Amino acid sequence: MSRTSEKLLPWYDANARRLPWRSPPGAPSPDPYRVWLSEIMLQQTTVATVKAYFERFTARWPTVAALAAADEGDVMAAWAGLGYYSRARNLVACARVLAAEGFPADEAGLRGLPGVGPYTAAAIAAIAFGQRAVVVDGNVERVVARLFAVDTPLPGVKPDLKRLAETITPDTRCGDFAQAMMDLGATVCVPRNPRCGDCPLMQDCGAYASGDPGSYPRRAAKALKPERTATAWWIEREGQVLLVRRPAKGLLGGMLALPSTLSAPAKAGAQATAVLPVDWAPAFAGAQVSLGTITHIFTHFRLTMTVAVASLDPGCVLPPGAQWWPLTKLADAGLPTLFAKAAAVAMRERV
Ligand code: ADE
Repeated sequence: MSRTSEKLLPWYDANARRLPWRSPPGAPSPDPYRVWLSEIMLQQTTVATVKAYFERFTARWPTVAALAAADEGDVMAAWAGLGYYSRARNLVACARVLAAEGFPADEAGLRGLPGVGPYTAAAIAAIAFGQRAVVVDGNVERVVARLFAVDTPLPGVKPDLKRLAETITPDTRCGDFAQAMMDLGATVCVPRNPRCGDCPLMQDCGAYASGDPGSYPRRAAKALKPERTATAWWIEREGQVLLVRRPAKGLLGGMLALPSTLSAPAKAGAQATAVLPVDWAPAFAGAQVSLGTITHIFTHFRLTMTVAVASLDPGCVLPPGAQWWPLTKLADAGLPTLFAKAAAVAMRERV
């Protein structure tokens, strides 16, 4: 046991968050299926949001075999709102591998699975299989940077933080230690105004000793996100609205969406072009009328999307995968958040 884990594990025993994918502190490891599913959901999404999705997914698909047998479209629709939709496609692909071949029980074997990167492999190895693995997410980076008062800025310092995390990782209770570090970062060693008085590591903490713990981790100045614009069309016919299926690869890949000019961000140096999600440009009859705009923040850009109402030219041929969707059932379409926001504007503003 390291000095850190000797102090942190008793704190975890008393303060662990009770989360639906967890075993209580000190209890046997939880079902690897539930650990894997939660870690994929938590990759880019907060614990608060993931809880309800996790409960719904495990009620509907209680085992990896059930998820492996699921229709990919159903999984994509159930994922709607969690964002980063390639995770949902990888989830189904990974479930099919796991159902056929079983769970690899070590970090190296886990790493090769669809959607499982170094962090997720380490988290599953520690939490589901009790193996010693160095589990470092954003919360843990902050705890480590403060504990050791690391003055080199993020993001370049990440490999150093991982090396320092390794020095405090114990050989026993590896899953509890990993989740204790996460909980400390999420509830005590928070980004602004850390609650040092409640921290079991306060006496050992370099950032606390510095007198300004909130100034760690140091950060390099951030580049501003580029701005992009797009148009989504609201095309109605007899109580239905036109939806298209976006191409499998790229932004919001495989999701149902309003027809729009939204494409993947242009690569650095390339011309920022806007293309339709399918190789299809709607031929419109009459004017397109703007109903309003929405903004949405993606990882690599900030989008302002105009929502315009339009009517199709009577001769216009619909692209494959397009469908007229009943307005009364729009909530069941599993639109990603961006297009759900656009649809809400249209439903409110249209006459
Ligand atoms: N974030 C990622 N994995 C987590 C876990 N197992 N518990 C809490 N937060 C997490």
